[in-house]
Amino acid sequence: MTTQTSHLSVLLQESLDGLSIKPDGVYLDATFGRGGHSKQILTQLSDKGRLIALDRDPSAIESAKALANDPRFSIHHCNFSEMEDVLTSLELHGKVDGILMDLGVSSPQLDEPERGFSFMREGPLDMRMNPTKGQSAAQWLAHAEEQDIAQVIKEFGEEKFGKRIAHGIVNARQQAPITTTAQLAEIIDIAVPVKDKFKHPATRSFQGIRIYINSELDEIRTGLKSALNSLNSGGRLSVISFHSLEDRLVKRFIREQSRGLQVPHGLPIMQSEIDSHKALKAIGKAIKPSPEELSRNVRARSSVLRVAEKL
Ligand SMILES: C[S@@+](CC[C@H](N)C(=O)[O-])C[C@H]1O[C@@H](n2cnc3c(N)ncnc32)[C@H](O)[C@@H]1O
Repeated sequence: MTTQTSHLSVLLQESLDGLSIKPDGVYLDATFGRGGHSKQILTQLSDKGRLIALDRDPSAIESAKALANDPRFSIHHCNFSEMEDVLTSLELHGKVDGILMDLGVSSPQLDEPERGFSFMREGPLDMRMNPTKGQSAAQWLAHAEEQDIAQVIKEFGEEKFGKRIAHGIVNARQQAPITTTAQLAEIIDIAVPVKDKFKHPATRSFQGIRIYINSELDEIRTGLKSALNSLNSGGRLSVISFHSLEDRLVKRFIREQSRGLQVPHGLPIMQSEIDSHKALKAIGKAIKPSPEELSRNVRARSSVLRVAEKL
């Protein structure tokens, strides 16, 4: 059964303002989701403008059929780490005026129990954004080494009880295979010795396993570099993150690309040589959702937007 879900796009106006849309420009939405940002971008494009959208989730691609008759729009089923291939095939590589990356999972992915992302909803333990590729969380947990599980939960979930939880998982799987979200949530609940008043004990572990299963941080590292290569000079990059691991990567990338050549202190080198290695300029500071948005959409609460311009 598919549950009806609604999706409210996060930092919608702010991220579009960041793109500084030119009506005749070429734009890339790297994370189509349910198309909230894409539809808004299209309202700002003329007949000559183009919007290329990507998503790794087949359900997102399916939902884009509603835009199929718009000649300015095309959708591609791939990871955003592959954006350069898509743009090259369209002869648009290096010619893009703005790229939006709205990272993480979509509301439908979280809300549909059969996707297996949520500890709140009983479903098969899947967690793949693209269920047609790679191993599910259940398949990984069935054979992974205890220390690898602990490391994933600790590093990607920022969970201090990673070792205890991994031990609980390995013990439990010796009794019976762990195949559902509810089973895993219960194992974690039992393993966590101190409960947080405001958070379900499985919140962090589910985040960590999901990030690992979808190679999310590697995708972001490659995606940011590819975005930089794909933009034309003056092109804008708007990136929305939902947790500190994502935002740290985005912040560092923009900082490194804005700094120019790094040379040891005292080395005689022209400022122009240092500047010639600057690839990006940060536009403003990190932007958080307004109180009004937060009152409408609780899922926006951890979001942060960073904008940069290619030099
Ligand atoms: C937060 S949602 C985007 C919501 C969208 N902006 C909207 O307004 O409807 C994130 C989407 O990005 C997709 N996604 C996440 N990582 C991806 C990646 N590495 N490559 C392609 N799509 C990705 C997910 O499948 C999900 O549909």
